[in-house]
Amino acid sequence: MLGISKMAAGVEPSATLAAAARARQLKSEGKDVLDFSVGEPDFPTPKFICEAGNLAISQGKTRYTPASGTIELRKTIASWYESEYGLLVTPEQVIVSGGAKQSIHNTLAALVGPGDEVIIPTPYWVSYGDLVKMTGATAVLVQTTLDDGFKMTRDQLERAITPQTKLLMLNSPSNPTGAVYTRAELIDFAEVVVGRNIGVISDEIYEKLVFGNAKATCFATLNPALAERVITISGVSKTYAMTGWRIGWAIGPKHVVSAMGNIQSQETSNPCSISQEAARAALTGEQGFLVPMVKEFEARRDLVCSGLNEIPGIRCFVPDGAFYAFFDISETFGKAVTGGPFFSDTEFCKAALDHALVCLVQGSAFGAPGHARLSFAASRSQLEEGLRRLARWLATTP
Ligand SMILES: Cc1ncc(COP(=O)(O)O)c(C=O)c1O
Repeated sequence: MLGISKMAAGVEPSATLAAAARARQLKSEGKDVLDFSVGEPDFPTPKFICEAGNLAISQGKTRYTPASGTIELRKTIASWYESEYGLLVTPEQVIVSGGAKQSIHNTLAALVGPGDEVIIPTPYWVSYGDLVKMTGATAVLVQTTLDDGFKMTRDQLERAITPQTKLLMLNSPSNPTGAVYTRAELIDFAEVVVGRNIGVISDEIYEKLVFGNAKATCFATLNPALAERVITISGVSKTYAMTGWRIGWAIGPKHVVSAMGNIQSQETSNPCSISQEAARAALTGEQGFLVPMVKEFEARRDLVCSGLNEIPGIRCFVPDGAFYAFFDISETFGKAVTGGPFFSDTEFCKAALDHALVCLVQGSAFGAPGHARLSFAASRSQLEEGLRRLARWLATTP
């Protein structure tokens, strides 16, 4: 048997994709599963974007493009940052990849390796830990709690930095918690990273999905000294409901982006030519569809969080952004419940799927045991039914 490399053997499959696969399997067996594991908007890609994709095909834009993306799209992205945030970057500082996930991977591959440390506020997006591991660097987890609003403090950050620290990974709005750092909190972090000479990957993929008075901040704009140490990540997957098109990007210092371009040129060549044209249309087209989409996510947030908080044993954080409810389930551990008693979030989620036909993702996949994540990128009627099922299941004894 061929031996698996040490690197590959250390990589876990994405827990969210694994949960979705389990839900699909049960559905194929005829079970009426409600799948709240997925991290993608349930809205269709807006029509004008699909039309731009069709047009690209009919115009023959179906060939290789430059490895780092077409100059037109990189220019569009650079202009978008200027008009949205006043961030001035040249197209050479922009690289387009097959999704933000690839952008993050390439950033890490370009910047860290064995012996380096990467600070990750926790709970963190499921892929961060494994992407860091694949480079041979060490992830240093900074634990935050529901009572702290799932936010790292300046003091925690300062204490986590060692001479080996190369990068901090920020994600605001956050997946899985939906926490959104304020501008003032991020200015504090900016001071620390400049003072301690470390870099930052700022994953801002949920920047347009914020509720109430919350506002997403483009971290790179906070301090002129950040230009040489911040890599901003975003993409079209979440804002434009374009998860399947696979377009994300990274913006950063020219030499880092150029190194990422070399990696990408050997790895996948260019991102999909048709999707690049669609992404260009997304960024330059009419943005009106966003307002009702965000309003709908906010209404679902209210529905889901209040519903979960009414269930005995569950304590749900109320997120300011993204489309996930992240909740503490530890009070249910050890109780007499159908399918239980369970003593971990993994057992809880397995029992929820088996006995309530509700698919969630265990918090330990995000570095937060004792919690679970529910994606509210589903219809209100599905969410109401899911809440009913969870409440009924947790109230029944074997
Ligand atoms: C925080 C975060 N970053 C990056 C991504 C990756 O997005 P993409 O579809 O562009 O690869 C996701 C997707 O779930 C995410 O939640």
